[in-house]
Amino acid sequence: MKDILSELEERRDAARLGGGQKRIDAQHARGKLTARERVDLLLDDDSFEEFDMFVAHRCTDFGMEESRPYGDGVVTGWGTINGRLVYVFSQDFTVFGGSLSETHAQKICKIMDMAVQNGAPVIGINDSGGARIQEGVASLAGYADVFQRNIRASGVVPQISVIMGPCAGGAVYSPAMTDFIFMVKDTSYMFVTGPDVVKTVTNEQVTAEELGGASTHTRKSSVADGAFENDVEALAEVRRLVDFLPLNNREKPPVRPFFDAPGRVEMSLDTLVPENANTPYDMKELILKVADEGDFYEIQEDFAKNIITGFIRLEGQTVGVVANQPMVLAGCLDIDSSRKAARFVRFCDAFEIPILTLVDVPGFLPGTSQEYGGVIKHGAKLLFAYGEATVPKVTVITRKAYGGAYDVMSSKHIGADFNYAWPTAEIAVMGAKGATEILYRSELGDVEKIAQRTKDYEDRFANPFVAAEKGFIDEVIQPHSTRRRVARAFASLRRKKLETPWKKHDNIPL
Ligand code: HXC
Repeated sequence: MKDILSELEERRDAARLGGGQKRIDAQHARGKLTARERVDLLLDDDSFEEFDMFVAHRCTDFGMEESRPYGDGVVTGWGTINGRLVYVFSQDFTVFGGSLSETHAQKICKIMDMAVQNGAPVIGINDSGGARIQEGVASLAGYADVFQRNIRASGVVPQISVIMGPCAGGAVYSPAMTDFIFMVKDTSYMFVTGPDVVKTVTNEQVTAEELGGASTHTRKSSVADGAFENDVEALAEVRRLVDFLPLNNREKPPVRPFFDAPGRVEMSLDTLVPENANTPYDMKELILKVADEGDFYEIQEDFAKNIITGFIRLEGQTVGVVANQPMVLAGCLDIDSSRKAARFVRFCDAFEIPILTLVDVPGFLPGTSQEYGGVIKHGAKLLFAYGEATVPKVTVITRKAYGGAYDVMSSKHIGADFNYAWPTAEIAVMGAKGATEILYRSELGDVEKIAQRTKDYEDRFANPFVAAEKGFIDEVIQPHSTRRRVARAFASLRRKKLETPWKKHDNIPL
């Protein structure tokens, strides 16, 4: 009996060694942790339960039968993050470069199936040379099996991808279909075709980092939602994100203890909006002052900065925030910001996370590049996403809410439950100057008259009261009491139920 027990331990030790100490050292030398070290950091201490530790590949081509390491390049299992169940897979670069074989894919599929069955998030740590070259089409089939599960799990359990090494070729499409992608600066990259192929086909010379590094994907392509300095920071931030999310689409997000009075008054907000309507101010200040303990988890911080998206808590409950940022492009909506916010709104709606919208928007960004790029369709995404969202929705207009962008930014007309405005709000078809120049074109030469006309328009529309008279704004509130008003609004909406007509699925403009 003793021999059998010690044999088990020997086999476990062999499995834990992955591709061997030399390759582990090489991984460390690059500033990367091993697959198991990452799992340990991600999960609560001693909570990891492994599946399929002894799985080995079945390939007999290219001399593969001579090397059948336990685990086959991926560590899978489940554990907890702050006591809540999650499923995890972590690719082991020390075993055949973390490449995906038929059995490697089966291990991932097994835990994805269990995650959906048991209603818990899936976190995938990617560090892989892609399809296991020796296995050919069996490996491609394995990828497709994973893709299909990503699609099925979408909107059922949160899926988070952490890219901690190479992720290339078709392999990128699994993370691409998950809810959030995080990357590590300088050690991770994602692309469909690498720099060599790019050079051959297009004659462009580009490094892997430029083509698909963390900076590229968080600033230019928006493929990734966040970039972190190293593995340790990235995994700590994933833990922080999971704390905001429900385990699945039938559960509410967790309620955390809070130490911040819901009625906290912030007198400084009364002077947040500058006197000159064209002077920018930082909308993040409002978000931080509304949030419990000033804690804000921003998503896509470095992309389309004219809109801010992320999670806060109010009275311990998760709330998704979408806010125009007057500091960038005057807070205009454009293609990128519409796409960014639409995807965020849809995530919140899929997982029953209420949405707070903070509005200061002078309209959609004009110009040929926007029109040629399809701003009509992309702007419609955000409109559609808000309009179909059935979660509690509370909106606060701080300053401008002009034109179509007023409608889009969670207006009463597309189903917001509470629409508040600060006294500084201006709700109109457009700014007074633009409006006057169109309405009184024939008087443009008369400076005095035009100034009077502009003032008349301002007096009429540069306030929230016309909209409030019509009931489009439920209440004009004092800026300093925003946290209290918003927290009470969401508290009153906790049992909101909204039926929508049956349909197979909608046809959001893509
Ligand atoms: C089998 C692989 C492998 C792969 C790497 N290895 N990629 N084994 N299949 N795809 C092995 C190497 O042979 C090596 O084994 C070890 O992993 C580490 O690889 P190195 O090349 O030494 O590491 P490094 O210099 O860091 O380069 C990493 C790399 C490179 C950039 C990922 O290995 C590479 O370009 N690999 C091929 C990538 C690729 O073209 N994959 C197919 C993509 S197409 P030893 O024994 O020496 O340690 C694809 C399609 C998916 O994935 C389709 C889905 C629909």
